[in-house]
Amino acid sequence: MKTVTCTAPVNIAVIKYWGKRDTSLILPTNDSLSVTLSQDILHSKTTISASETFTSDRLWLNGKEEDITKNKRMHNCFRETRALRAAFEEEERRHGREVAPLSTWKVHVCSENNFPTAAGLASSASGLAALVFTLAKLFDLSTNMSYLSRIARQGSGSACRSLFGGFVAWEMGSEADGSDSLAVQVAPESHWPDLQALICVVSDAKKGTSSTEGMQNTVKTSPLLQHRIKEVVPARMKQMKQAILDRDFETFANLTMQDSNQFHAVCLDTLPPIFYLNDTSRAIIKLVHEYNNASPDGKLRAAYTFDAGPNAVIYAPKEHMKEIIQLVAHYFPGAADGSYFADPYRILQSNEALGAIPANDRFNAACIPVFPVGAVSRLLHTEVADGPRVVGKDESLLNADAIVLVKAEQVNKETGYKYGVELQQVPTPKPSEGQVLVKIQAFSFNHRDNWIRKGQYPGIKAGSICGSDAVGIVTEVWSSSDSSLVGKEVIIQPGANWDSDPRGPEGMYGILGSFPLSGTFAEYIVVDRADVALRPKHLSLAEAAALPLGGLTAYRATFTKAEVRAGDNVLITGIGGGVALLAMAFAIAAGANVYVTSGDESKIEKAKSLGAKGGVNYKKESWPSDLKSLLNGAQLNAVIDGAGGSAYLKYQSLMKVGSIIACYGMTAEPQVPFGMGYVLKNIELRGSTMGSRREFNEMVAFVNEKQVRPVNVSKANGELVHALEFLVLRYRWDLLTDDHLFMFVDKCPNLHVLNVDMCKRVHHMSLEYVATYLNTSLEEVSLSGCTHLNNYAVFAIAEHCPNLKSLNVSECSITDEALVFVAKKCPHLERLDVSFCRWITEVGIQALRENCKNLREWNLEACFSILGGIDKELREEDLGWETEEESVQGEE
Ligand code: DP6
Repeated sequence: MKTVTCTAPVNIAVIKYWGKRDTSLILPTNDSLSVTLSQDILHSKTTISASETFTSDRLWLNGKEEDITKNKRMHNCFRETRALRAAFEEEERRHGREVAPLSTWKVHVCSENNFPTAAGLASSASGLAALVFTLAKLFDLSTNMSYLSRIARQGSGSACRSLFGGFVAWEMGSEADGSDSLAVQVAPESHWPDLQALICVVSDAKKGTSSTEGMQNTVKTSPLLQHRIKEVVPARMKQMKQAILDRDFETFANLTMQDSNQFHAVCLDTLPPIFYLNDTSRAIIKLVHEYNNASPDGKLRAAYTFDAGPNAVIYAPKEHMKEIIQLVAHYFPGAADGSYFADPYRILQSNEALGAIPANDRFNAACIPVFPVGAVSRLLHTEVADGPRVVGKDESLLNADAIVLVKAEQVNKETGYKYGVELQQVPTPKPSEGQVLVKIQAFSFNHRDNWIRKGQYPGIKAGSICGSDAVGIVTEVWSSSDSSLVGKEVIIQPGANWDSDPRGPEGMYGILGSFPLSGTFAEYIVVDRADVALRPKHLSLAEAAALPLGGLTAYRATFTKAEVRAGDNVLITGIGGGVALLAMAFAIAAGANVYVTSGDESKIEKAKSLGAKGGVNYKKESWPSDLKSLLNGAQLNAVIDGAGGSAYLKYQSLMKVGSIIACYGMTAEPQVPFGMGYVLKNIELRGSTMGSRREFNEMVAFVNEKQVRPVNVSKANGELVHALEFLVLRYRWDLLTDDHLFMFVDKCPNLHVLNVDMCKRVHHMSLEYVATYLNTSLEEVSLSGCTHLNNYAVFAIAEHCPNLKSLNVSECSITDEALVFVAKKCPHLERLDVSFCRWITEVGIQALRENCKNLREWNLEACFSILGGIDKELREEDLGWETEEESVQGEE
């Protein structure tokens, strides 16, 4: 069996394709040009397995099996690629070489979008491009993208442009067989990294008239289309290409808006007319024009474009994007459930609200009204990026990966770790009776995971899959009565064998991530059907992943054990902890007056900003009297404590007769002093740990009803620091994403070496953050194989890390500009690897050579001078450098 998985991006045209001269070969009536957008935000992913044992071709689209024979466009792509494979096999055999007869094997295809297909976003382009690219890789065909684009075009016209990154033209061609109707790259993504896009999702509904149907009606009935085809598009294509090559936003913006408007004009000119824009779309058009008119320097700052639907895509230079997002959010506010704007590039400061309008007198704030919440349901901030990617086996839609505990060689003296962690491929688990299979979308780390690695939990074994918190999508169910769950986003109840008894577990209790229960740090997990609850819609993925274990523990401690009610005075200790924070959120939502303790004043302030009445610093001896003054004559009805220890000597005098202490942990000490004073006041001490399935469901209902969200006030956690450095630095971790990196770096302020080799999901924005945050301490940065990192990552690292000695950007998407910048900013550079950075030319290398006098080791393999059109491999001799041997001899 052979299996390949690839992803492909969405593209948004700035000169639109509308009209076919041949509907079966999908040959267009005009050239078009588009911009490829980042796959980190929107992509289609396809896994294809071919095997001689498969009995039929099978297809799963977004989790559902479909009849492959009914999908004519996909069928076209299979027919074409299989024919090419058959020809290749014949040729190989003619030369006496053995070759697997893949062209005759059946295939299993699994494809999914990371965005709702019905959202009106360009799913056919990315979907068909992913299919064709994956087939080409599976069949070992040439991956000359222009060549493949002729096949992708027959799946969906616009798909041919998604085979390239950056700026892409689809040349209509004139041959009847379509052989010259193909896509070509006008410029790579690294050419104009400053250009970004904002997708305003105006309608989640499926569009009324499909592009395929709509465009042929236009061809038949619109006289204006003929004018567009003959007179307008040919001139615009030339101007647009030049504007892109010159990075001339003014011309780019004018042409983009004009072409979008003309495309919608030909739709109106169709009989019967096609209306893709709605009131919200038109208001966005007005807003963008007003914003441009008010531009302080008189230059255009934004350009809108609309495809066959009401969603707007606004292109703008990076520097104006924040202002534009604020502006759109002001006039088209989103729901407050976190689904509106995810801020992937961290343009907002923490706590910064959306919706400010430009502080600019020339801007007419009354240009459009403020629309009702939901007119724009989502804002997706994205940027120009690369073309299809082959992704690792771990990303296969037909396989599973997991992060597994491995025995450490010896206990690490510094960190005390008994176990290491390793990314391992394991078979996808199968649901059995009563179970469901969940594809994990996000998981969260608990302190518990760290203690497990130290061997501080009984029964832990090497080979266990770690992790107990996660959110994911149900992809398979055992019983057809649960089939409505398939495709649903769920959070997972982390405990086992505790159904509903409020006193404690009915059976042998266990938690996911401790042997024998497999954990959540995996691509898939099988759990009982009763242990999944629909993800609360107001929570982001990260928030949802942080809820289960902490939320369950906090809920039981707060309500079942401490019996917190509205009006109660409640003390929650150690407010930096995840459970304490959730207990605080729950108690506040229930109407209680919450007081907190912490050893860190900033956490107390943060807790107050989240609704606590007050807090005291337990490091001060005066904390009991400080709390007494805050209570102002009142007493505590409950203490919710996760620390234990000597503080119990003091609680009693602050507590009311008949009050309760719910203790769920022992971060300070494993004992508590519980004197007769408590007994005489009828105060109860109640132990609490985790919670039942019933409490979990109650907790989720409560979180939904009160719209509670997990928050974090903690800055750093000493033990975690080591764990995370270990993961980042010692392992190639394909699953590592920007979110992880932000988190790691927040906790590793003194990192000297950063190695995220092969972490293809890491994006330049997290590197910018890393560099800014770590400032001068980084000396070695290795980003090899992070295939979509671009110049921005290198700019940021060079700017903030002047002590940089070693830089490995092999296979990253960078250009000479980045190296020229490194040359200026990092004079101490000793080692450089730019192998397979095909845009690097002599220009960048010479700049380094002149400025970095210590540069001794380099790797320039497969650097091509493509931009200059020379298309030859750059050889070190061409640069007049000493070869490595000579330089070693020289040193001797
Ligand atoms: C308005 O590529 O979806 O987005 O070739 O019939 O599959 P088919 O149509 P499709 O049309 C896209 C039209 C457009 C403009 C564009 O992307 O150029």
